[in-house]
Amino acid sequence: MEIYIKKNYEEMSRKAAEIVAEEMRKRKNHFVLGLATGSTPIGLYKELIRMHQEEGLDFSRVITFNLDEYCGLSPDHEQSYHYFMFENFFKHINIDKKNIHIPDGMARDLDAHCREYEKMIADNRGIDLQVLGIGGDGHIAFNEPGSSLSSRTRVKTLTQQTVEDNSRFFKTIEEVPKYAITMGIGTIMEAKICLLLVNGAKKAEVFAKAVEGPMTTEVTASMLQTHPRTIAVVDEEAAAKLKRKDYYKHVEKMAGLLKKRVNEKGKNG
Ligand code: F6R
Repeated sequence: MEIYIKKNYEEMSRKAAEIVAEEMRKRKNHFVLGLATGSTPIGLYKELIRMHQEEGLDFSRVITFNLDEYCGLSPDHEQSYHYFMFENFFKHINIDKKNIHIPDGMARDLDAHCREYEKMIADNRGIDLQVLGIGGDGHIAFNEPGSSLSSRTRVKTLTQQTVEDNSRFFKTIEEVPKYAITMGIGTIMEAKICLLLVNGAKKAEVFAKAVEGPMTTEVTASMLQTHPRTIAVVDEEAAAKLKRKDYYKHVEKMAGLLKKRVNEKGKNG
């Protein structure tokens, strides 16, 4: 896993946006971007919007797939992930609406819809880069503790902790949906790159478990340790409990020096 430890949330978001933009530019003709909701990626979306508005970053051919959606909330519900994505990202960039995919929490046959969602990802040749956040209980998407590490898109019952964590967005805890459609760990693991963002002291312990602890269904994010290319971009607070924090910083510095040397060599022939 590549780990970048940034001073604060703004720097974390900027670094993440640079990574997304670089991959987008590399794959101009066909880029499938997996997206997450929640508080963590809002800064990344703001920075991508800025890059679009000021630097012409082009989303016209980008295809997106969101990780999850609450069951029972319509797309115009203010707490639905559809609403979140349009408000925080899609309505500010030049994405073609037909390229946007978000699970439909109102689908009449949820299981059939989940199968269809998997098929749509496959029909688009898979996800190139998947943005992820981590939940307080170690989940990625809504793969709660105990989820199968090879699970596919399906309906999950949310844990009490997740319901409580998410109640900050609702008037009362009773209003928080108890089920969600979510990509599975198996689905996420097929993305070519996983970009995990983590910020804040509250996530420090769970992030350390995910990265340096044993691989376990108790912390489904720990499965990312086996992914061929996971990039974690985090702030100092979230990195506070990492055993190998100094080493990760050393690796970043050494990689920077190496890149500089290669560039200089290239320039000088
Ligand atoms: C959201 C999602 C969740 C969140 C996680 C962290 O689409 O898949 O796994 O990434 O719950 O949420 P925040 O960022 O609000 O702390």
